[in-house]
Amino acid sequence: MKTEILKPTEENIQRCADALMSGELVGMPTETVYGLAGCAFQESALLKIFESKARPHFDPLILHVALTRASTADLMSEGIFMPNEMSDEAVKQIETLIRNFWPGALTLVLPKTNVVPDLATSGLGTVAVRMPDHPVALDLIRMTDSPLCAPSANQFGRISPTTAEAVLKEMNGKIPYILDGGPCTKGIESTIIEVTEDGDVLCLRLGSLPLEEIEAKTKTKIRRISADEREKNLKAPGMLKNHYAPKKPFFLLERGLKNLSTVPTSSILGSAPKKIGLLAVSGQKSEVSDLAEAMFDGKVEVQVLSESQDWKEASQRLFAALRLLDESECEVIYGEPITEAMLRESGLAYAISDRIQKAARK
Ligand code: TXA
Ligand code: MG
Repeated sequence: MKTEILKPTEENIQRCADALMSGELVGMPTETVYGLAGCAFQESALLKIFESKARPHFDPLILHVALTRASTADLMSEGIFMPNEMSDEAVKQIETLIRNFWPGALTLVLPKTNVVPDLATSGLGTVAVRMPDHPVALDLIRMTDSPLCAPSANQFGRISPTTAEAVLKEMNGKIPYILDGGPCTKGIESTIIEVTEDGDVLCLRLGSLPLEEIEAKTKTKIRRISADEREKNLKAPGMLKNHYAPKKPFFLLERGLKNLSTVPTSSILGSAPKKIGLLAVSGQKSEVSDLAEAMFDGKVEVQVLSESQDWKEASQRLFAALRLLDESECEVIYGEPITEAMLRESGLAYAISDRIQKAARK
């Protein structure tokens, strides 16, 4: 199959909607990362999603909706949500979250209804739903007239794509179309929140919507589910594995660059690398390069997430920067760790730290 990148004209979005309705998959831009979209109610399309990503079936998908009004009533009329056993408090929290953060980078984990195929939820009693904040995604969902299941459009465990070209590299030959909606403005995935039947609000995955913004609106302390707890309860199953990983060996440095005397060169390569890659959090690129080259006796390919340590810019660039290093001539990639002080600056620093720790080899 030939994969085409299409400009998001009305005609092309319609072409993609037709392909989706006939059971094909489409690369869909969203504000967080690009998704690999298929019709949520077509089991054959869902099977294709798992197959094209080489994704295990125990890792559930997110349903993407385009509501007319962002409200629980509209979600209920799509048949995706039924409050059934939920307390009034829980329903109120869900309404608050939807009204404040949809469309946007918030995925809600809610009790599943019968219309949602078990394949989409990996047999769980809950379903993950979000309304993306991207005009092309919303048009595509509306023209298809169905919610779309869309995991990030990367091969399982690899770096999430934030441009149409990156999707092409991951999915070439496997899907007919990729809609080019430009580079993703957020750059890391949505924040996943579960509201329990009695109204507790849990964070299952950190993402581009910082928890403090959610806490301010819900007036509730959000409980973070630790990796251990997740493992026990399988709360967000897909998140247990090594994720977001470059193809080249990627290690986190023990300390920030300024506090190192040498850049360690990895023994797993057998011989010392001629060129290393460095993913730095901040600083002038030229200064970071000079510093790194002085410490490492060889060439260094540097990517700086944000020269001015602007966390929005850093998250937007994270995956693209990792991809550039992965495609460069370096043989091994080192990442600057996110420090405690950085974590205090912004909730986004947590989301970035989570991604690079999962991507790194231990
Ligand atoms: O920003 C995003 O969320 C992107 C864009 C494309 O919308 N999508 C995305 O999908 O990141 P994906 O498949 O890469 O990650 C979805 C994760 C799963 O790995 C799983 O951990 C969690 O969502 N998930 C899905 N359904 C769940 C459920 N019922 N309960 C708990 N976690 C769930
Ligand atoms: Mg993913």
